[in-house]
Amino acid sequence: MKTVIIGTGSFAPPRVVTNDDLAEVMDTSDEWIRTRTGIEQRHISDGPGTTWMAAEAAKLALKDAGVEPEDIDIIIAATTTADNCFPSAACEVQGILGAGNAVGYDVSAACSGFIFALHTMDGLMKTGAYETGLVIGVDNLSKVVDWSDRSTCVLFGDGAGAAVVRVLEEEEDRDGGGILAADMGSDGRKAEVLRCQSRTMGNFLTGTKPEPGYITMEGQEVFKFAVKKVPECIQRVLEKGGLDAGDIKYFVLHQANYRICESIAKRLKVSMDKIPMNIEHYGNTSGATIPILLDELNREGKLEPGDKIILAGFGAGLTWGAVLLQW
Ligand code: COA
Repeated sequence: MKTVIIGTGSFAPPRVVTNDDLAEVMDTSDEWIRTRTGIEQRHISDGPGTTWMAAEAAKLALKDAGVEPEDIDIIIAATTTADNCFPSAACEVQGILGAGNAVGYDVSAACSGFIFALHTMDGLMKTGAYETGLVIGVDNLSKVVDWSDRSTCVLFGDGAGAAVVRVLEEEEDRDGGGILAADMGSDGRKAEVLRCQSRTMGNFLTGTKPEPGYITMEGQEVFKFAVKKVPECIQRVLEKGGLDAGDIKYFVLHQANYRICESIAKRLKVSMDKIPMNIEHYGNTSGATIPILLDELNREGKLEPGDKIILAGFGAGLTWGAVLLQW
């Protein structure tokens, strides 16, 4: 049994905010942001948020897969910025799509979220409980960044990506295609390095006041963690699949920083030709970067049956993970 991606979709809100736009409202510059991160612009939602973006990406993925909403058995949305504490983004998307036969829930693993959700989906599909699933990575970080903290707010953007998956029995195996291996990790001891505290309305018993929740980050710590952990987990997933880096067509990496991706490429001893990038257009959309990039590769016809690719992410938790799959 293998879980195969049969369709992808992505969506970003139409409002584009360039580095120069930000330089008009805070002490930053296009030059600083571009040279430190590779980001040139990001999409920011000035209207509806997470559920809307997720549903738009999901509709496109269903269309690409040729699957009707009522044929979906399960929806897992990876997000840390659902519009509500409850219901989950996945349940709201289920309602919008009219996917009445699907169970839906969210997975919280920040920028590693899509990888964790895909791994979870793969495991569930292989139990035989579900046949067709929808995995979504979506975040609306513009509503939780501290817009007075230039060292974090310039990095992030809003967006969503989705993949429709189907489990195939041995006999319908698509030339060995599907998810081949995965490797994930967490280190809660480093939770402080990247955190978005929950908003609270305070508590009359303790006399605490309402507090906003926003992102705080030790940028250099995150950088060091990413360039160490991501190559390590990619190596492990390659070993699990009996492959080496030369066998991989693309490493679809979390788009947090161009320089992080360059360092990962160097450690893996692969050229940047194998590391597709789109951070310049979107910034860091957290759980959405990997499925957006995957969707762009799919739509540009860059993925051929038989191609082996690795999806790899990292983020708050700290968390990291990689999935090896054959297209
Ligand atoms: N515009 C202009 N100057 C800025 C700035 C901005 N947006 N943000 C910070 N600076 C300034 C700092 O105040 C500091 O000034 P000082 O030297 O006068 O004190 C200077 O730039 C250097 O800051 P520093 O934090 O050392 O920069 P850096 O080279 O480490 O780059 C990051 C900062 C955030 C770009 C980098 O650490 C990074 O990308 N880390 C990974 C973060 C990440 O990807 N997080 C998400 C993971 S999922």
